[in-house]
Amino acid sequence: MTDSPAAPRPHLIAGNWKMHGTATALAEIEAMAAAAASLPPHVTVAVCPPATLIHRAAQVARGRLVIGAQDVHAEPCGAFTGCVSAEMLQDAGATLVIVGHSERRTDCHETDADVRAKAIAVQAAGMTAIVCIGETAAERDAGTALTVLNSQLDGSLPGSAERLVVAYEPVWAVGSGLTPTPEQITGLHAAIRTNLTARYGDAGERVAILYGGSVKPDNAAALLGADNVSGALVGGASLTAADFLAIARAA
Ligand code: 13P
Repeated sequence: MTDSPAAPRPHLIAGNWKMHGTATALAEIEAMAAAAASLPPHVTVAVCPPATLIHRAAQVARGRLVIGAQDVHAEPCGAFTGCVSAEMLQDAGATLVIVGHSERRTDCHETDADVRAKAIAVQAAGMTAIVCIGETAAERDAGTALTVLNSQLDGSLPGSAERLVVAYEPVWAVGSGLTPTPEQITGLHAAIRTNLTARYGDAGERVAILYGGSVKPDNAAALLGADNVSGALVGGASLTAADFLAIARAA
């Protein structure tokens, strides 16, 4: 992805609703879909609602608003009570799936190998996998952030760079109101890019690298404007059309 004044680099602004939202929240999706049409052409917006809303959200989404999922099971079908396969998500209208979010790595004990298997399943179903990585505060303070990120990339990334997005979400920035500086993000994203190009060659240049963690309307321009940032993965501020669109307009 190259910078040029004539053609701003593509940005993906993805909202992760986590465990929020029932049918009444569809009004927000409708408002986002209506406004997405007037966003600059280099900006795509995505909302990943709870699985129960994917199908209905996909029916009201259109244009440059797409619908995704927050997790998936790696297997195509079977005796996995409560789980949902990639084919089921695709059938419901999802076009992308977040895998390896830090909340799932921590709360559900997902390993890098689990995350890789999920990413492969997502790609095989024709959807885009957003693979999340990020260091904890303790790892940051110990100076091991880069080692941790590279280890997560090595363990979690699928074999193909097609339909692949990486989201750098420092665990300490998620839901905390804290963020790295734009300069720190630029440096870490450059290191992630180095890993991607070593792994995938030229195809690694085309993998979008999102930043996530306490992205809000008032800090979005600075974070999204940082070099090497191809968009954002937004939690709390993606729940209302007003905040989410303000972030998308800052891209
Ligand atoms: P917040 O934007 O609420 O910090 O959440 C970030 C996140 O976890 C997105 O996946």
